[in-house]
Amino acid sequence: MPPIKRVSVLGAGLMGHGIAQVSAQTAGYEVTLLDVKQEFLDRGMTMIKDSLSKFVSKKTITKDDAESALARIHPTLDLKEAVAGSQLVIEASTEDPKLKLDLYRRVADYAGPETTLASNTSSISITLLGGATKNPANVVGMHFFNPPQLMPLIEITRGRRTSDSAVAVIKEAASAMKKETVLCKKDSPGFIVNRILVPALNEAAFLVDEGVADPEDIDKAIMLGLSWPMGPLKLLDYVGLDTTLNISQVFMQEFQDDKYRPSLLLRQMVRAGFLGRKSGKGFYEWPSPSTAKTTT
Ligand code: CAA
Repeated sequence: MPPIKRVSVLGAGLMGHGIAQVSAQTAGYEVTLLDVKQEFLDRGMTMIKDSLSKFVSKKTITKDDAESALARIHPTLDLKEAVAGSQLVIEASTEDPKLKLDLYRRVADYAGPETTLASNTSSISITLLGGATKNPANVVGMHFFNPPQLMPLIEITRGRRTSDSAVAVIKEAASAMKKETVLCKKDSPGFIVNRILVPALNEAAFLVDEGVADPEDIDKAIMLGLSWPMGPLKLLDYVGLDTTLNISQVFMQEFQDDKYRPSLLLRQMVRAGFLGRKSGKGFYEWPSPSTAKTTT
């Protein structure tokens, strides 16, 4: 596979903007950032600027570093422009299998035979995504953690047909981004982290629904009892209730096991549009990304 110079990030949302930033800021890659609406791209670029200014104010990087990182990110609404000429495409679209499969089919029209197609999916089968392309050997899981700018891990997942060279490309990119990696040898839903995390987050929502404890006490218990940096309900808000619900549903379907059943409260909150930090309300109120008060 050719060395990475240009990376395409598909999706400028909660994860995509951070992945684009790390690719440009830490790895020094040229980055194209794609989304389907101008307002989504604008919001993604604003989040990148905000995050870069945090690093500048903490003197982690200089103002010049921030400006040149920003200049390396090229937002676009055009899939062909986003993908053509990139050695690595990182898909970070909504966690919806139909949407992702459609995107993979369309990406395959523009990606070269040596382009590695990585997915930031947290639960959807890499083998399934690979099957939608002309070169399933080039399709591999590259799962970042929120916020990608700070979290040091990338999970690499092999699909049934993923080649060793695609895995090597992700290791090269992760090293340039200064991230640690773990390899998930089998294409198993939720890989390693979400297989453990998502049932725990769901169980916290069950505790609220059953009236066993208030959200603040559940979060306090897990922070102080298990030394998590954030309690499970705040983390649910942080990751997104819709994303967590989607992952639980994939688990139910793929493992055919009722033990992954999402709580009714989680389902109802998503229906009500209480998606967590991104919608301003979840288990907590989020008037701005850094402040949170409980709502339940
Ligand atoms: N860019 C740059 N800096 C950022 C930032 C960003 N996007 N977000 C936060 N920071 C900085 C803040 O400026 C702050 O800096 P100082 O300490 O120097 O002031 C520091 O990070 C801490 O931030 P906050 O004070 O706002 O809040 P915090 O102390 O709670 O830290 C956190 C935030 C780093 C996210 C921490 O709470 C944490 O590690 N939480 C757990 C996150 C986690 O578990 N992520 C994984 C989720 S699971 C997932 O992503 C997988 C999936 O598929 C669902």
